[in-house]
Amino acid sequence: MWYSASFTLLCIASVVQGLVFRGSNDQPCFNISTPETPILDAKWASSIDPIYYPVMSTVHLYRAAVDLLQKDPKDVRLSTVYYDACIKWHMYGNGTTFLKGFNGLTREYARTPLKDNPDGFTYVGVGGVQDVFAGTLHITLTDNKTFFFTVTCMKNAGMTWGVGSTTPTLTEETKKIVLDHAVSLGFNREDFTELKYDTCKN
Ligand SMILES: *[C@@H]1O[C@H](CO)[C@@H](O)[C@H](O)[C@H]1NC(C)=O
Ligand SMILES: *[C@@H]1O[C@H](CO)[C@@H](O)[C@H](O)[C@H]1NC(C)=O
Ligand SMILES: *[C@@H]1O[C@H](CO)[C@@H](O)[C@H](O)[C@H]1NC(C)=O
Repeated sequence: MWYSASFTLLCIASVVQGLVFRGSNDQPCFNISTPETPILDAKWASSIDPIYYPVMSTVHLYRAAVDLLQKDPKDVRLSTVYYDACIKWHMYGNGTTFLKGFNGLTREYARTPLKDNPDGFTYVGVGGVQDVFAGTLHITLTDNKTFFFTVTCMKNAGMTWGVGSTTPTLTEETKKIVLDHAVSLGFNREDFTELKYDTCKN
C-alpha cells in the first residue's frame, strides 16, 4: 500500500516537474467583450463558501502560490505547490476576498466591480511585500450550479485562467467543458494544472 502510493506520487511529481514556470508561457492579455446579459448569477456565486480551485492555467497557479507564500518566485517550486497549495477562496459581499492555502496561510484582496461589465472585477492585494496576483478578472462561463470559469489579465503580465468550484474535484464532463472553453479563448490545452485536495489538512 505504502509502496504503491509513493510510486504514484513519484510519477505525478515527475509529470509536474515538466510544468516548470516559464515567463514565455504568458499569453498576452486580450479584451473580453461585455455580454448582453450577465453570465454569472452573482447571488449564487456569493453563496459558495469555500470556493475550491481544482483546475487552472499553470501560470495562474504559480502566481497564486507566490502571492500566498509572499516568497521570491525563484524559491517557489511548482512540484511542491501541487501537493500543498490546497487553495480555497472566501468571497464576501463587502468586497473582501480571502485566498487560503498551504495549511493556514491567508492573503487578502480588495475586489472592485467593473463599471461597464457585470461579470468583471479588479483585484488588488491588501498589504504584503509583493502583489503578483493583482489584475482584472472576468467570468466567461458558468452553469450557476457547480463551477465558474475566470480569465484574469494580470497586472504587468499576461492572461491566465482558473475555475472556481463548489466541490474539490470537477466531473470529467465539466473538465472537458472548461478545457474546451479555455481553448476557444486561445489558451493552450496542455498548459493547465489540477490541484488535489485529498491530503489537505484543512
Ligand atoms: C482592447 O480594448 C482597448 C480599449 O478599448 C483598445 O485600446 C485595444 O486596442 C483593445 N485590444 C485588442 C487586442 O482588441
Ligand atoms: C446564470 O445566471 C445569470 C444571472 O441570473 C443569467 O443571466 C445566466 O443566463 C445564467 N446562466 C446559466 C447557464 O444558467
Ligand atoms: C469583510 O467581511 C469579512 C468577513 O466578515 C471580514 O473579515 C473583512 O475584514 C471585511 N472587510 C472589510 C473591508 O471590512
